[in-house]
Amino acid sequence: MIIDIVTIFPEFFNDFLDNSIIKKAIICNQVDIRLNQLRDYSHNKHKKIDDTPYGGGVGMLMAFPPFYDCIEKIKTPESKIIMLSPQGKLFNQKKAIELSKEKHLILLCGHYEGIDARVEELIDEEISIGDYVLTGGEIPAMIITDAVTRLIPDVIHADSAEEDSLQNGWLKFPQFTKPEKYKGYHVPEVLRSGNHQLIDQYRFEESIKQTMRKRPDLIDKIELTEKEEKVLQKLNNPIKK
Ligand SMILES: C[S@@+](CC[C@H](N)C(=O)[O-])C[C@H]1O[C@@H](n2cnc3c(N)ncnc32)[C@H](O)[C@@H]1O
Repeated sequence: MIIDIVTIFPEFFNDFLDNSIIKKAIICNQVDIRLNQLRDYSHNKHKKIDDTPYGGGVGMLMAFPPFYDCIEKIKTPESKIIMLSPQGKLFNQKKAIELSKEKHLILLCGHYEGIDARVEELIDEEISIGDYVLTGGEIPAMIITDAVTRLIPDVIHADSAEEDSLQNGWLKFPQFTKPEKYKGYHVPEVLRSGNHQLIDQYRFEESIKQTMRKRPDLIDKIELTEKEEKVLQKLNNPIKK
């Protein structure tokens, strides 16, 4: 997959691209992440890319021509062009899965008061990473790039991605590592039993319990299997002694 990021702050991405899973995915050619300096497409000899808004108002807006020219230069018939914006549809794991199947993403980062509204006519989607306003689109672009890259086949272990929270709608079951006991805090007995059938059942139920406890709002959006429905019913109506 190719991810083109259009930004006036390409240097923000240096550490992000040079560490951990993203770095490994780049080295293994699983993803090609290109940083495009929007100022290179400025029509101004001082490389200015912003101006005052028509009709008045505070702040500066990023101009249309540099975005138009940059998109024209980098887009291909396979590109999906996404503008980062607090006005967009909320990003979630379902969207990350969908985007991880694309061949080419172009992520447009705004700054200042945002971007000239004509850019909306050039894009396929407007995505927000949450209902709050950030200074620029660079952190949202990193979030989307990270969430999407780890879903590209073989970037991380397939089972690990499959078991992640939200991947199938549910939150992941709780996990523990050594030591087995510390200051009176214990690892659940069943996980030390070596009985894989019991462990699978425990994890299945704990994943449902975890979701009921932390994010009950997610449950309505899940198409329940018969097995999940049974466990939910059991947890909702515990047998009274
Ligand atoms: C200060 S914001 C502009 C907000 C704009 N004036 C408005 O009210 O909608 C500057 C840039 O940051 C990015 N941004 C801010 N919050 C965001 C969010 N929640 N999700 C995605 N991008 C965001 C966008 O690229 C935006 O163009």
